Amino acid sequence: MGVATLQEARTASTAERPRTGQTARLVLDGKTYELPIVVGTENEKAIDTSQLRAETGYITLDNGFGNTGACQSRITFIDGEKGILRYRGIPIEELAEKSTFTETAHLIMYGELPTKTQLERFSKRLNCSSLIHEDMLHFFTGFPKDAHPMAILTTVVASLSAFYPVPEQLDEPAEEQVIANLMSQIRTIAAFSYKKSIGEPIVYPSNKLRFVENFLTMMFSSPVKDYHLDPDIVRAVDVFFLLHADHEQNCSTSTVRLAGSSLGNIYAVVSAGICALWGKLHGGANQEVVNMLQYIRRNGCSPEEFVARAKDKKERLMGFGHRVYRTFDPRARIIKQICHKLLNKRGVSDPCFDIALKLEEIALKDDYFLSRHLYPNVDFYSGLILKAAGFPTNMFTVLFAIGRMPGWLAQWREMHHDPGFKIARPRQIYQGPTLRHYVPVSERV
Ligand code: CMC
Repeated sequence: MGVATLQEARTASTAERPRTGQTARLVLDGKTYELPIVVGTENEKAIDTSQLRAETGYITLDNGFGNTGACQSRITFIDGEKGILRYRGIPIEELAEKSTFTETAHLIMYGELPTKTQLERFSKRLNCSSLIHEDMLHFFTGFPKDAHPMAILTTVVASLSAFYPVPEQLDEPAEEQVIANLMSQIRTIAAFSYKKSIGEPIVYPSNKLRFVENFLTMMFSSPVKDYHLDPDIVRAVDVFFLLHADHEQNCSTSTVRLAGSSLGNIYAVVSAGICALWGKLHGGANQEVVNMLQYIRRNGCSPEEFVARAKDKKERLMGFGHRVYRTFDPRARIIKQICHKLLNKRGVSDPCFDIALKLEEIALKDDYFLSRHLYPNVDFYSGLILKAAGFPTNMFTVLFAIGRMPGWLAQWREMHHDPGFKIARPRQIYQGPTLRHYVPVSERV
């Protein structure tokens, strides 16, 4: 079986893949197969197995997809060994220092930092898309008072599909409007769900305010009390969103791609992504970290004891470890600094921050964590910033979802613009019973 045969069978997108001309040789059942090697712009290498089953009858099996590239993407680059994260080529550190969430969202979505005019247009479109249909307000009253805001968010985001019909053929203006709706309305839904949970009237968005200011005002002002916008808090929340804006093929983004590949309604597709994010091994970890720190504080359990329990697998050190990063998550470094600055500037000391520092210090000297490459991830310190900004713990993952929206939408958009687009449909190796026959209930023992 030669390379030429494989080339003939390529799909449109595989035909465009940058190749080295090199192949990997696979010997199976005494036959040799040549599999094309694909190389990315940052020299990441892959073996293209898209024709493997057709040619050999075998599939690849990769529990948790640790070695499976599901797509080729131009959006985000991560080097997990070196702790590098770049959006569209620009280091996360530069963006966190110099950019804003809105500007970065444009970069992620459309590939370039916006010009002044583009940025104004994009911001205006976000501002003009912030209201949700008035009839949707009934939904919020239908939830129990202590409903988790993520439950409300997934439901209400999916319901947007009923109020904002998406045309069958999405042309560019319609696509831009859907993108603006989701980025802007998720923030409104998040704030409304919080207001309902505390029994206060909702606060409508205002076109006069910028993205984060608008959100904080909807969250924390009330008819009897204006909310004073603290520039440090505004900036901290803005950078929090920016740092979460995309992270290539993580669990929720892969969910968005998978659900989106059936050509499902975009609001429902994003809602599926929010559901995937909710889990505590993914976006739900930020809430779990603060719960863990508070547990340590309240139960008189020392950080040393907690780390020992984590090593015995009785607990997980939440906010530690990552599938891709084998070193510090670069976002964690930035968030830790912001957290330090924010607490110092406000002259408050948070015992949870001290406990987090101690846990980190202990873990980073311990062979259990070092040998497994377990370092702080983005969630380790992020909850403490949100706590300092006044957010209740159960809103933390909701804020992650607001931040991740540009990434979900950019990945969904990229997938649909790929000429080789097809429905995602993994295979399996069946390990159940082989053929057997139905037994009537009277004969079953
Ligand atoms: N505490 C204690 N042990 C851990 C931890 C942890 N946080 N994370 C991994 N391990 C151990 C694990 O028990 C296993 O040990 P062994 O080799 O003895 O069986 C080894 O490290 C490898 O772990 P794994 O679960 O196979 O690694 P994974 O790549 O499948 O999981 C992870 C990655 C992020 C789910 C995991 O590290 C974890 O559960 N961390 C805590 C939850 C968390 O902070 N999640 C946020 C991730 S970053 C934000 C995001 O993208 O959502």
